[in-house]
Amino acid sequence: MIYAMNEETDNKEKNSPKEISRRNFMMKLSLGFAAASAAVVAIPVISALLAPLLESSPEKWRKVGTVNDFALGTTSLVTFINADPKPYAGVTAKSAAWLRRDDKNNFIAFAANCTHLGCPVRWEAKAELFMCPCHGGVYYKDGTVAAGPPPKPLTKYEVRVYKDEVQIKTKPIPITGITA
Ligand code: FES
Repeated sequence: MIYAMNEETDNKEKNSPKEISRRNFMMKLSLGFAAASAAVVAIPVISALLAPLLESSPEKWRKVGTVNDFALGTTSLVTFINADPKPYAGVTAKSAAWLRRDDKNNFIAFAANCTHLGCPVRWEAKAELFMCPCHGGVYYKDGTVAAGPPPKPLTKYEVRVYKDEVQIKTKPIPITGITA
């Protein structure tokens, strides 16, 4: 009898307005926490998926010397800072190019990286060829492939002469073996 009375009292307390409003509050609080947790997980995932679509391709003009630094008909190795260097990049923030001066104000620049797997190519002035030491890739002086595995010509950079400065327009270097 006492047990039945206690049960009845319990049921009355469970269904009291105060108890119902406490349960509603706890349920809303739980839903709020669940939504916040879902957002914490979803925001970085969505950001990572969308980042490549929103990133612009970095390009910037970089000085590599003055016109008189380069003799007519020569091909020289020049270095410059990438368009979008990261603070932690160290020496990897630098790129290199082979720069040829064809006449007074005409320059042509080739990326120093082989289009096969990115090894640095060297210029052999006597043979007038670019040679890759890694797998025997060879390029003619105009950057086209002469022999070996490179699938395409050396990447060219835009070059301009601006107020006696020779400038190269940086861009990401497409390397078939890595980016394809
Ligand atoms: Fe140049 Fe392979 S990286 S030939």
